[in-house]
Amino acid sequence: MYKLKINLEVNGRKINKEVNSHYRLLDFLREDLDLTGSKEGCGAGECGTCSVFVDGKLVKSCLMPVAKASGKKIETIEYQGTPDNLSTLQKAFYQTGASQCGFCIPGMVMAATSTLRNNPDANIEEIKEEMGGNICRCTGYQKIFDAVELARDVISGKLDPKLLEQYSKPKDSYLGANVKRIDAPSKVTGRLKYAADMKMPNMLHMQVFRSTKPHAKIKKLDLTKAKQVPGVETIVTCDDVPGIDNFGVFIEDQPVLARDKVRYVGEAIAAVAADTLEAAKEAISKIEIEYEDLPALFDSEEALKDKILIHEHYKTNLVKHIPIRKGNVEEGFAKADLIVEEKFSTQAVEHAYLEPMAGVGYVDSDGTLVIISPSQNITHHRHMMAKIMNLPIHKVRFIMSPVGGGFGGKEDMIYQGMLALCAMKTRLPVKYVMTREEDIISTAKRHPSRTNYKIGLTKEGKITAVQIKMIADGGAYGCSTEGVMRKAAILGAGPYRIDNLQMDTIGVYTNNTPSGAFRSFGALQTEFATESILDICAEKLNMDPFELRRKNMFVAGDLTHTKQKLNSASIGTVLNELETLANWEKGAPNSRGQIRKDLNSNDNRDSCFLGARLNDKLRLSGGIK
Ligand code: FES
Ligand code: FES
Repeated sequence: MYKLKINLEVNGRKINKEVNSHYRLLDFLREDLDLTGSKEGCGAGECGTCSVFVDGKLVKSCLMPVAKASGKKIETIEYQGTPDNLSTLQKAFYQTGASQCGFCIPGMVMAATSTLRNNPDANIEEIKEEMGGNICRCTGYQKIFDAVELARDVISGKLDPKLLEQYSKPKDSYLGANVKRIDAPSKVTGRLKYAADMKMPNMLHMQVFRSTKPHAKIKKLDLTKAKQVPGVETIVTCDDVPGIDNFGVFIEDQPVLARDKVRYVGEAIAAVAADTLEAAKEAISKIEIEYEDLPALFDSEEALKDKILIHEHYKTNLVKHIPIRKGNVEEGFAKADLIVEEKFSTQAVEHAYLEPMAGVGYVDSDGTLVIISPSQNITHHRHMMAKIMNLPIHKVRFIMSPVGGGFGGKEDMIYQGMLALCAMKTRLPVKYVMTREEDIISTAKRHPSRTNYKIGLTKEGKITAVQIKMIADGGAYGCSTEGVMRKAAILGAGPYRIDNLQMDTIGVYTNNTPSGAFRSFGALQTEFATESILDICAEKLNMDPFELRRKNMFVAGDLTHTKQKLNSASIGTVLNELETLANWEKGAPNSRGQIRKDLNSNDNRDSCFLGARLNDKLRLSGGIK
């Protein structure tokens, strides 16, 4: 590994050091100086989590080779303030609650500092423009912009600095109150340690060899050359699993590392632990594999034909079918004046949490296996791990590190088994941090879905029957598919009284990337279909979409489709609020033509395809752009 000498100043400290010549400034700050407040969200100059000042200019340190930083003055988030001595901007972020998961926040504080240094009077549009290179995935931007405006006005003397410390004292309820986030100081100063920021003595670095095939037999896996790379401590494969090599939140169908065959592009096949990240990467590049391609299955409806099987021993690609039956749909449709049938589809969605997957595994002094990771489901993971490692449950400990955004994506166990194998084999601490690309190709997504929908209504708008069939692509492994199908079935028909309902949600295996938990957990896919078809029906019945919903909404005392008694029902309140806030223009969707005047807008807008303005005549004639 080539080294080069650099001289620079970091946070007021003069530094003369030999560094790895391939390092970026971000690597140098994090690895050599332990300044982990600068985060790596993308490594590609897109997210801004790595922002620092170089000679006073805001720079994305993931894009700057360390050699170029020689002779410069670097300022990181650690220089902006400490938890007990926050800068005005940091106090403002604290005050407005602009620090949810916190992963983007150090970069945001740096970008905001740059904005106000360059333009102390920046107006909101200039603030947005200046901070446009930074992404937040969970706070949202409003509180961040509020913080910058607050800091700007305090610094300029327009506002009293006491406002930075003003929090409400909730009397009866915390709802709507601006309370202090106790973890905010560590987030706004970059002091909070996420899994990728953690270091332990003698720590190894893990890298993963992944499948480039969607469906193939592994004919030969040759680790000989990889093992010869200096610094490699161990390479683990499925043969190293001491316990039951099948895990999953609902269905135990997933091996820690591919066994005999691969089922999707990105599946883990082997993991290397080495004394440096570079050695681990080099070893990965030396692993040799021979595949025998198998026909691959990418279509969820084809999957139900079972011509290609993803898990042969199950003899079916069906992961889970949840049926709900209520009343008699045939009788319900017979009473309908209007029957509408439509197909809806939704796509896979990446969670895009800003903190890529990361974790540390080690064996403690009592021989207990410890995994530190931002898992959203550590109790379940602990039980799965005990089975995989053939350990009693008290010999497995999971510690949840701060979660830099999850949205369900950190609920399924993905890489913790590999960390455990490497740590148990070497008895050394092992760290693994995914790159953004690796995270995208290998982790679970939102289930793509296809829904066939049939609904019957009287001409007065009363729903008489609903028939829904959703097929969801679960990908190569079960993950959370079973739970997602349940939620989709229970909630999919929406908050409406439907006497005759037939609901089927069906999750299947394919050779696509596994699908898993994602905010709303299946309800989104079916509810999207329900709300869309109600808008279509409103148009066909010449009825206001709000009115149609009010005619059918649940009220207190109703039974849900799964026979839960509702002691209260808020849908009426929600509809009233929505109608007011949207400045809704009453009437049937097709009564207004192509121009819309609502949504609190002064201008007129083109109507859109989705929602209440769906206009069949214009759509079919191609009249809507
Ligand atoms: S911009 Fe540097 S890590 Fe994303
Ligand atoms: S607080 Fe911004 S990404 Fe989580």
